[in-house]
Amino acid sequence: MFTQELFPSRSQLELSDAATHRLREYFTALVQERRRAHGDDPVSAWLRTWDGLEADRAVADEAVYSLALFVLLAGLETTSHVLSTMVWLLLEHPRQLEWLRAHPEDIPSAIDEVLRYDAPIHMISRIAPEDTTLAGVRVHKDEMVQLMVGAAHHDPAKYDDPDLFNIHRRASPLSFGGGVHYCLGAPLARLEATSLLTALLERLPGLRISGSPVWAPRVAFRRLAKLTVAQA
Ligand code: HEM
Repeated sequence: MFTQELFPSRSQLELSDAATHRLREYFTALVQERRRAHGDDPVSAWLRTWDGLEADRAVADEAVYSLALFVLLAGLETTSHVLSTMVWLLLEHPRQLEWLRAHPEDIPSAIDEVLRYDAPIHMISRIAPEDTTLAGVRVHKDEMVQLMVGAAHHDPAKYDDPDLFNIHRRASPLSFGGGVHYCLGAPLARLEATSLLTALLERLPGLRISGSPVWAPRVAFRRLAKLTVAQA
């Protein structure tokens, strides 16, 4: 995650290198294990698909390794952020939480508002394939453009009173990106958020925040590092 930040420090990059090394060991072993014994799991299914496309086993294994690693990175940090942020925001706004208890049909729009208010990924990167002008800014071929999704979500030209958390506003967040790279896991992430919120409303009516939340100092991948709660 540190490598995605705008200005990672040297020590963060060292941590990333070490973590990447261990992830490579783990996923390489996993791919080899599934090669030996196919099962009813995503990695085995990807191997079967890739073998149909690629004659060279080593190339197929490397592709499946990259896919497994990418899905883990893309799906874990992002979803854990949105789940914990959702709990924090709704406990901070008890009237809106009560509304959802009586109107569970509004849970999807509450999740959209959480995704708008504090998007798990605040910026999306692109490299310009040719010289172009984007919103009045000249961009040269091969330059990297950082699209600040988190800022767009708080643009008063798009949202009235954008810094207000309001589950009734019917937000249309850009949190899952757009176009051909639109997030593969968006329906899964929404399902996880719906399950958590439904269970929380049913099973933990007396939940409250019991300490100050702590955020990691990050721009690209947001992280609520600590959220303590108590059940009355
Ligand atoms: C709230 C949770 C999530 C958020 C906010 C999120 C956000 C994003 C964003 C912004 C992109 C587009 C990146 C770009 O255009 O450069 C993306 C792509 C992707 N996401 Fe997610 N994601 C989430 C959950 C997941 C989950 C749970 C999975 C997998 C199980 C996943 C897998 C992927 C994959 C594979 C792509 C690449 C799609 C492609 O390039 O065709 N994501 N995600």
